[in-house]
Amino acid sequence: MHTGEQYHTFILNSKQDRLVREKFQKMALDLLAKGADVLDFGAGTGIDAKTYAANGHPTFVYEPSEAMREYLECHCRDEISRKTITTIGSPLACKVQAVTANFAVLNHIADHRLLFEEFSRVVHRDGFVLISMLNPYYLGDARYGWWRSNLINLMRHGRYAIASESRIHRFTPRVVAQSAMPYFRLERVTPRGFGLATHLYMFLLFRRT
Ligand SMILES: C[S@@+](CC[C@H](N)C(=O)[O-])C[C@H]1O[C@@H](n2cnc3c(N)ncnc32)[C@H](O)[C@@H]1O
Repeated sequence: MHTGEQYHTFILNSKQDRLVREKFQKMALDLLAKGADVLDFGAGTGIDAKTYAANGHPTFVYEPSEAMREYLECHCRDEISRKTITTIGSPLACKVQAVTANFAVLNHIADHRLLFEEFSRVVHRDGFVLISMLNPYYLGDARYGWWRSNLINLMRHGRYAIASESRIHRFTPRVVAQSAMPYFRLERVTPRGFGLATHLYMFLLFRRT
């Protein structure tokens, strides 16, 4: 099976991932103004893009993986032909009210400073960036040696990377917020408090300053 198709099938068959995706999409749709444009950054196979387009939002998709992109072009072929979804080769090729990045896209990126500077050129004033990232405080990961051995890094530096996971990086919200300044301010972290211990993903909402 094609890699893009494998990811697509796997993530849609996971009930837990579907519930997390529904919450993320609802948050994005509640925040978007009627008919506002959105960029889905690291769009994968276009699952969120299809929903945004179905809700009347012209949607740009940026996806660097060829395998993902090919499947996106198949999954969203009607929207692409109607131009309600537009694939772009650089995130800078659009102007939007919002950028979304769902399911750990920013965990693939070691340094977010240049990324937020780029987002600042794409997002209108008062627009937003909504991201879903792996939550470094999730206690469900405490069964893994890498989680326990990186606790000290988390406390000292607010970040670490795991070589065995293709260098997937974990960040505290504060570290991401520092990278987003001065272009964006962190407005909301979901979940809050003890909820951070029980959720694999955290949603961070940044407002364009
Ligand atoms: C777990 S998938 C999530 C895909 C999609 N957002 C979703 O909700 O299903 C992570 C995605 O991040 C993309 N990605 C990895 N590095 C990236 C980068 N530097 N810039 C943008 N996207 C990236 C991958 O190609 C992959 O499609």
